Amino acid sequence: MAKLWGSRFPKKTGSLTNRFTSSISFDHRLAQYDIVGSIAHAKMLAKQRIIPTKDAALIIKGLKSILKDLQAKKFKFDSDAEDIHSNIQDTLLKKIGQVANKLHTARSRNDQIALDTRMYLKDEIGQLLELIVLLQKSILKFAKTNAKIIIPGYTHLQLAQCVLLAHHLLAYIESLERDKQRLIDALKRVDQMPLGSAAFSGTGLPIDREYVKRELGFKNVTSNSIDSVSDRDFILEVLAGLSIIAVHLSRIAEDLILWSTKEFNFIDIDFSFCTGSSIMPHKKNPDVLELIRGSVGKIHGDLSNVLILMKGLPSSYNRDLQLDKPPLFDAVDTVKDILEIFIALFGNIIIEKEAIASKLLDESLFSVDIVEYLIKKGLSYRQAHDIVGRMIKDCLDKNRKISTLSQKELKKYSEKLMPDIKNILNAQASVNLKKSYGSTNPRLVEKQLSIWSERLNARIQI
Ligand code: ARG
Repeated sequence: MAKLWGSRFPKKTGSLTNRFTSSISFDHRLAQYDIVGSIAHAKMLAKQRIIPTKDAALIIKGLKSILKDLQAKKFKFDSDAEDIHSNIQDTLLKKIGQVANKLHTARSRNDQIALDTRMYLKDEIGQLLELIVLLQKSILKFAKTNAKIIIPGYTHLQLAQCVLLAHHLLAYIESLERDKQRLIDALKRVDQMPLGSAAFSGTGLPIDREYVKRELGFKNVTSNSIDSVSDRDFILEVLAGLSIIAVHLSRIAEDLILWSTKEFNFIDIDFSFCTGSSIMPHKKNPDVLELIRGSVGKIHGDLSNVLILMKGLPSSYNRDLQLDKPPLFDAVDTVKDILEIFIALFGNIIIEKEAIASKLLDESLFSVDIVEYLIKKGLSYRQAHDIVGRMIKDCLDKNRKISTLSQKELKKYSEKLMPDIKNILNAQASVNLKKSYGSTNPRLVEKQLSIWSERLNARIQI
């Protein structure tokens, strides 16, 4: 395939060079943005009388027919092309002849690739935001259908206190909300139109960058041509945002993996998200969730990849920048896949109510409630903590339950301990006793559930 350069070259580049420098194997994904960007550019060239209107009309017609082929999956990518820009340009040349060569006026592939990547990201961020909302909705639905379920909560993975399952799930929704806000914020920096920066210093031709910006629906034009072809921090910000989303998703995966073990037995994950063992016939393994957890390393690798790629790079355009796309595509694709999996998975989780209820009988879950009972009766926090600690130690040593201690036995620990503490030694009382804003109190959690229902039905504010 003809290159967009070459006349000053006394000989052809070797096949290894061609293979090593080519990016068509991955930047073919930018084809539609490349074409749409070119159509806007051609319109602008004609409007500014830089090329004749009839030539622009031919170019635009040609580009539109290429776009149609692409959308109909009829466009044949040329694996020998240097990149997507050359591939489209060459196809246009074959379609409409020499007039195609006027398209690249006042433009370089350096500003063109910056434009294509920004257009791609604007679309992808939109899709990511929608998927995040769908996942929040899927989690919310699951939380609402199980709004009454209380589970034992853990810190350090040791049994701690009772919480509502819905409260735990709302924590996921909160973190996903921040993930969404981070992407919305990054979008402001993505939504800048770089075309017209040409190679890096701008152009002497009378282009109209504002017009191209409006045609392509960008918020602003970039204001420094060197920065425009040099900047990839808009990509880094998205990758950083995706890396944080991935951390959150891996933690959700880990919770579900733990909860689905025989040892926890809080939930049953649908067979469609599990696999079996080739040797152990009884196994039902949560491989999908494990791969989600594992994929996070890859996504963080994608961020590191581009960070290291950019470090110490001289200003302006360098070919190294071509290598930003495989990690970017990988991170975007992987996070989208994981979001889609979770959206479906949360719709199919079965709660193991009896198994959970049996775990709630462990009275150590109520130690803080007894401490707070004593504080309300005037004891200091330290005194109350000591008393309950001693009581729990004795019960463990003697294999007794606090609820079976007689009034006389209770009095040994504190005069303030009355038989009515037995009323708070259950999961429902424990969550009811919580009062603070943001706590697991059922009324407060119910309020949060309805606040989120409303919030998630509203349009995303960009
Ligand atoms: N394939 C290149 C990239 O992804 C496009 C720009 C190439 N520019 C150049 N002067 N060789 O960055």
